[in-house]
Amino acid sequence: MNAITHLDELFTLLAFPSISTDREYKVDLDHCAEWLTEKLNSIGLTAEKHPTPGHPVVIARNEHRTDRKTVLIYGHYDVQPVDPLELWNTPPFEPTVKDGVIYARGSTDNKGQHFAHICGVADTIKEDGDLPVNLIFLLEGEEEIGSPHLEAFLKEHADELKCDVIVVSDTGMVAPGVPTFTYGLRGIACLEFIIKGPAIDLHSGIYGGAVANPATIAAELVAGLHDENQHIAIEGFYDDVLPLESWEREQWAALPDGDAATLKETAVPGLLGEQGYTSLERRWGRPTAEVNGIGGGYQGEGSKTIIPSEAFAKLSFRLVPGQSPAKILQLAEAHLRKHCPESVTIEIHAGHAGNAYVMDAHSDFGKAAQSALQKTFDADPVLIREGGSIPIIDSFKQVLGVDTLMCGLALPDCQAHAPNENFPIANFEAGIRLNRLLLQELADLA
Ligand code: BES
Ligand code: ZN
Repeated sequence: MNAITHLDELFTLLAFPSISTDREYKVDLDHCAEWLTEKLNSIGLTAEKHPTPGHPVVIARNEHRTDRKTVLIYGHYDVQPVDPLELWNTPPFEPTVKDGVIYARGSTDNKGQHFAHICGVADTIKEDGDLPVNLIFLLEGEEEIGSPHLEAFLKEHADELKCDVIVVSDTGMVAPGVPTFTYGLRGIACLEFIIKGPAIDLHSGIYGGAVANPATIAAELVAGLHDENQHIAIEGFYDDVLPLESWEREQWAALPDGDAATLKETAVPGLLGEQGYTSLERRWGRPTAEVNGIGGGYQGEGSKTIIPSEAFAKLSFRLVPGQSPAKILQLAEAHLRKHCPESVTIEIHAGHAGNAYVMDAHSDFGKAAQSALQKTFDADPVLIREGGSIPIIDSFKQVLGVDTLMCGLALPDCQAHAPNENFPIANFEAGIRLNRLLLQELADLA
């Protein structure tokens, strides 16, 4: 198959509005999974769409032989919501190419990246009649909502999914043309708290000064998550944190200036973060506490003089190796309850959570991936961790007992999760080359 056809098919895949958070799109996720299943069957694999209590999982495999390695390639066909829609230059589900770059929701995260693997496999089967390894594709539709059903699915299908190593292209490159091997990810733990005060919104003139304002309390609790040095103020939060190793700090310090890159990519007027660490260390190797949303009270035009009856905040903690999401949620809950005054009540709801992941970057599998990256880009790869989370990767280790090689091709300006998400055609083509080189490198390992 030629590159034009691969691109046409990628555009078909990108046109499915497979937004996993919103139940309105459930049927679109199903259609997307169905399309992938048909595609995988058409290239000579045996593919099946498996229902789950949420969105379907697609599994495809070639004929497995006992004399070769088994490689599982994971990807996700679900995407993030598209709002604010008015900031998109072209419609998110009508892929558009401008200056060699594909603009569409899911182009980088993650359809473009896993579809490059599918195209690589299709080409190899077409040209060689077979693959150098036993292959399993595992494509899920719930990554962006924390993969709530995938771990149970792994346990149920553990025999079928038995493999030597896993490959995931859902991470980034530090710069265009710089091959990047990611050996670690942060974990995550989410919670939401609701502060409840008066039974109904009160007239702030009549009662103001005599009762607590839930929005003020919510803001104080949020403000109290950090101290003046940007350390997280939750007691015990850092107890289990594994420190960065000196080789990592040295290698990351040798990368292009992370502070400058962070300033440029985010367009903030200045940086702020935990004292004693560089931007890259803060982003890849240190835990955080973030407010993802905060609200309560009047949001309309003009002023409305009330004491709102309630206010809320949605928090997420990015975690590093050593930290347990369940323990962090307990500590956070204890902290919030301790600092919440008795003049209001607090309700706390835990959300999704997942462990951080780190593998030995210098293992044989790691080196094979780095060699494939080197050949794909004709440049030496850099070794990094990433700050984002793919919680199922730790479950792969716990349930299937294998490591995951992260060879993502996202660029710093890919705008994942944001308007105008994009993926260069050059990176899509590099992904197709990488698939072939990587499967061969893995096949050649003793
Ligand atoms: N592709 C990302 C993960 C990622 C982001 C890796 C940045 C490396 C750098 C993935 O699709 C994602 O967005 N994950 C979520 C997981 C969460 C919903 C459990 C994340 O990190 O917020
Ligand atoms: Zn994502």
